[in-house]
Amino acid sequence: MIMQDSFGRTIQYLRLSVTDLCNYRCIYCMPQEGVCKKSHADMLTIEEMTEIVRAAHALGINKVRLTGGEPLVRKGLLTLCRSIKMIDSTIELGITTNGSLLAPVAKELKDTGVDRLNISLDSLDPKTFNEITRGGDPQDVLRGIEAARHAGFDNIKINTVLLKDINDTELYDLIHLTKDNAIHVRFIELMPLGVAKNWERDRFMTTAVIESMLQNAELLRIDGVARVYRLPDHKGTIGLICPMSHSFCPSCNKIRVTADGKLKPCLHSDQEIDLRGLQGKELIEAIKNGILQKPQSHQFGSAIPSTPRYMNEIGG
Ligand code: 5AD
Ligand code: SF4
Repeated sequence: MIMQDSFGRTIQYLRLSVTDLCNYRCIYCMPQEGVCKKSHADMLTIEEMTEIVRAAHALGINKVRLTGGEPLVRKGLLTLCRSIKMIDSTIELGITTNGSLLAPVAKELKDTGVDRLNISLDSLDPKTFNEITRGGDPQDVLRGIEAARHAGFDNIKINTVLLKDINDTELYDLIHLTKDNAIHVRFIELMPLGVAKNWERDRFMTTAVIESMLQNAELLRIDGVARVYRLPDHKGTIGLICPMSHSFCPSCNKIRVTADGKLKPCLHSDQEIDLRGLQGKELIEAIKNGILQKPQSHQFGSAIPSTPRYMNEIGG
């Protein structure tokens, strides 16, 4: 089965937030005091998440990414990964993590069948990292990355959100990670969502500054939402993700489900479809409906209501 939305885009990709909790409090993602913990009863169980993946798979979803908050704080994550692979072992399963809790479980995740890891790393400098995450240590993340490579994960992606006057002095260092390591470093433009919604415009920067550092790099491909480059004699690649300066909506192939079971046809819109309590055919129908309601593009800067949710609830 191949499912298309009303604009002819083939929808194959589900991002499932498994928790809105996180052990970090990144300044652009979460308020300092954290978020008011939702009642346990409002959250999807591991079994419900499995059923949502099963229904989405029946509609042609063949790529699933588990996000958060921080997915590794969610109890039962390994069971969920195992169950997803039991639905169909060819489902490509990825996790987006802050990496801080990864080292001890990297091997288990690999053995469970997780195919890909995206690890967030906004700074290599201990002081800056600590400021951004409000308490984190980049060494924990670097240990996580090392453990993941050891466990056999290849194609590890590092996600760096561009923060003007905060991590823009480190761009060369982050790019340099690709010299001897076959990893992908992706620079992401900050989107005005959640906490960052009310930030001053001058805290945002575009990927143009990085492009100017990549003048002798080769453009390898356009990979979904990223433009991917390689510098001469570098093992890894650099990706630029620019939701603000270039709309990637025409190639959007995804839907999102929050940890409390709401399907979001678009990251930026406040439109949500409640999937809780639905099963079998009803659940499949609801997801299909959500796909058909995907808007043509995001509406930053327009009067259309944008999502009131914080990023830790949506998972990026
Ligand atoms: N804009 C861009 N990226 C964001 N992330 C969280 N909030 C934002 C935002 N406002 C990133 C995280 C992580 C991924 C899940 O989304 O840093 O890498
Ligand atoms: Fe946690 Fe990721 Fe949000 Fe940082 S950006 S607070 S690591 S969910």
